[in-house]
Amino acid sequence: MNDLSNKHIVLGLSGGIACYKAAELCRALVKAGASVQVVMSEAATQFITPVTMQALSNRSVFTSQWDDRESNNMAHINLSREADAILVAPASADFMAKLLHGRADDLLSLMCLARPIAQVPLILAPAMNREMWQHPATQRNMSQLKADGAFVLDVGQGEQACGETGDGRMLEPEEILADLIAHFQPKRLAGKRVLVTAGPTFEMIDPVRGITNLSSGKMGFAIARAAQEAGAQVTLVVGPVSLPTPRGVQRVDVKTALQMQAAVSPLSDSSDVFIATAAVADWRVESPTDQKIKKDGSGALPVLAFTENPDILAGVAQSKRARSGALYCVGFAAESHDLLEHATAKRQRKGVPLLVGNIGPATFGQDDNALLLIDENGSKALPHAHKLDLARQLVAEIAQRLSNSH
Ligand code: C5P
Repeated sequence: MNDLSNKHIVLGLSGGIACYKAAELCRALVKAGASVQVVMSEAATQFITPVTMQALSNRSVFTSQWDDRESNNMAHINLSREADAILVAPASADFMAKLLHGRADDLLSLMCLARPIAQVPLILAPAMNREMWQHPATQRNMSQLKADGAFVLDVGQGEQACGETGDGRMLEPEEILADLIAHFQPKRLAGKRVLVTAGPTFEMIDPVRGITNLSSGKMGFAIARAAQEAGAQVTLVVGPVSLPTPRGVQRVDVKTALQMQAAVSPLSDSSDVFIATAAVADWRVESPTDQKIKKDGSGALPVLAFTENPDILAGVAQSKRARSGALYCVGFAAESHDLLEHATAKRQRKGVPLLVGNIGPATFGQDDNALLLIDENGSKALPHAHKLDLARQLVAEIAQRLSNSH
């Protein structure tokens, strides 16, 4: 998805070994559809050459405030006026200290100071040794920079170029990209706690076999990501899938429907929105065996007795908080035909204000989907699109219903 199309990003590099990651970041920004203008401090050019950054951004790099390529000779003004955001990655301890004091003795700091503060966000991706990161001066500078309107991203944790281990590494390029994309999304669910279930469940037959289904978890993961981008605190309870956890989302892994219910139940007590996308198995084997069921060569077939799983969504929807409107519940219906009719009936049966229908065989495992939203006022179709795109639209629909009810 071209999440940054029509965005112009000024990518600033200050001096630090993490400059090597800025090359990958630049490429990722361009791939996401952004136009990228690189500005480097003199120290940054000691770590990576402007030639590399020019080739990756397809624009010549600015390094000096005395550069006379701009006809008015005011690169710091022109560059900062064009930008949708200034992203400094890496932001060194020294560069942040400089910004804090409003110093402007090179192009990068001059441009940051000259940016129209209300229109052009300044986003900093710090990178430094763990002692430098923990130093009270750095921590003090960071809080002041935040108070002055900058957005300071997290740092990574782990092995550092100096051989020490701890906090202070620059985030990986794909993490910075995800944070930047999230930055541009409207904060429709700011301060809300959102609980999402996703994926299939796996019901054991014996220690090596089980019953599951073809749900990939992609729609639920996209919804968790979209809710997080919209400013919510998101917990994702997930059956066995192999998908990366969306950035900033708390993930709880479970296997069976009973485990999913046990995880969801306490979390729903402290959530504002519950979105059930999981394809929970309707039945489980009544008595899974401790030992593998063996084929004895006689041709005798095993006999499995089933019992019904609890309906997690219907249970949560009947809770006091859901009935009082404190918890807004959203269900999903995967149907193969007569979507409107089946999904409307399912909304009633589950007792939820909003039910989202989709055609199961057409969506399982795919990156695209189409949704049909059904609430007390009728239905609304969200046409065929990428699941993340649909998830963002669904989040907007939910946020609107939340604000209408208050
Ligand atoms: O009844 P059906 O499985 O079609 O309902 C689908 C909706 O109910 C989804 O939102 C799904 O996550 C939820 N569900 C559940 N627990 C179950 C079965 C379904 O939460 N045992």
